[in-house]
Amino acid sequence: MPSEFAFPEGFVWGAATAAPQIEGAAALDGKGDSVWDVFCREPGRVYGGHTPEKACDFYHRWPDDVAMMRAAGLPAFRLSIAWPRVMPEGTGCINEAGLAFYDRLIDGLLEAGIRPYITLFHWDLPEVLQERDGWANRDMAGWFADYAAEVTAKLGDRVKDWITFNEPQIFLGFGHRAGIHAPGLKLSEADVLRCAHHVNLAHGRAVGAIRSQVKDAKIGMAQVANVGIPADPDDPGSVEAARHVTLEPEWTGDASMFLGSCWWSQPMYRGCYPESLAARHPRFLETVVKAGDFAEISRPVDFHGFNYYFGRRIAADGSVVKAPPGEPRTAFGWPLHAEGMYWAARFYHEAWGLPLYVFENGLSSMDWVDVGGRVPDTMRIDFLTRYLRELHRAIADGADVRGWFHWSWMDNFEWADGYKERFGLVHVDYESRKRTPKDSLAWLSEVIRRNGGNL
Ligand code: NOJ
Repeated sequence: MPSEFAFPEGFVWGAATAAPQIEGAAALDGKGDSVWDVFCREPGRVYGGHTPEKACDFYHRWPDDVAMMRAAGLPAFRLSIAWPRVMPEGTGCINEAGLAFYDRLIDGLLEAGIRPYITLFHWDLPEVLQERDGWANRDMAGWFADYAAEVTAKLGDRVKDWITFNEPQIFLGFGHRAGIHAPGLKLSEADVLRCAHHVNLAHGRAVGAIRSQVKDAKIGMAQVANVGIPADPDDPGSVEAARHVTLEPEWTGDASMFLGSCWWSQPMYRGCYPESLAARHPRFLETVVKAGDFAEISRPVDFHGFNYYFGRRIAADGSVVKAPPGEPRTAFGWPLHAEGMYWAARFYHEAWGLPLYVFENGLSSMDWVDVGGRVPDTMRIDFLTRYLRELHRAIADGADVRGWFHWSWMDNFEWADGYKERFGLVHVDYESRKRTPKDSLAWLSEVIRRNGGNL
């Protein structure tokens, strides 16, 4: 068998989702509103006025979805827990019916031989906590840790892989600075940084809570990989400039600044904030950061998780290289930057020395069910071939990458873009909720069977 692209033994292949994007059942069995439920009701916020109210109805249809995953030979599935389903008040009382849903789902996945990876926070904050100032309130750290403790107490006997936060860069940058995601705030730079600190503290306290419940837990975050790609990989100047952009981008003050990984990675892995923060916000460290915070935030984690879609090409002088005319783009308009996968894995490996997981990678494309009943998504297959080859190259060059998850298992609710973008391996008809596996699912299931092999 050709094995030019064989992945390491034990490499984890999976597909990813998030509760508010697939579950539906937004007000069923005691679930409370999330900030996204509320945001979507405001006219003009979301494309087409779409809402996550019904989504893919995974809440009811999961047994069929899990059967489809099993038939495809999917080894791992990343899902998130909806905090307002489990704790409609945000704190205190557990909604047993909500927690029982995840309990059944986990059993179903394990019976199908699929390893669950759970994200505790994929943006759907209970609205009641937003009414108490949300992430601007330092108490959030304790509330999040309590929630993490409840969930892991129930599921930790069976689930070992825990992701505290998904892409804090986006829910803070887009949701609290640019105002284009829930809760739709446009805070000052300093106020968003305060929120970011509370997210970091919440992460650290949750790590403590999870470890006390699950002795053999593997814990980390899933961050945005806002990668700098060397415009000329043979020029050491270009490589260093790209590394700098990846690890510690310059201040811009706008939402894009929060895409940088340094606001999360440095406190988590080094126990400090970047020096540039103290220079720009001299009072931040005195007023927002309290004694002992860094010790909590930098509790050891087990991996660095990142989501990669595209990056920015960087010249030796640090400038962003303009896209050539006609550059390939996905349906969302995102550029095809396969080599960024290599540089992300390489830069993170060299900077943090932790095992790496790619928790999201994929594209939205113009998929529909053809007259023959198939979804021939050849561009997705080509896209994934290119990105996986680059990931393989990073591993061959020494990056310790343990797993890769496709975004997404099925088409779903793409936040402010509603149901417009289709990221799935499985097509969803939002009238009938019918699922149709795309050609890419059959292709990926072969890739998984061969552990990469002749990609
Ligand atoms: C990142 C987010 O984690 C996920 O929720 C989103 O749907 C995908 N990227 C695609 O935009």
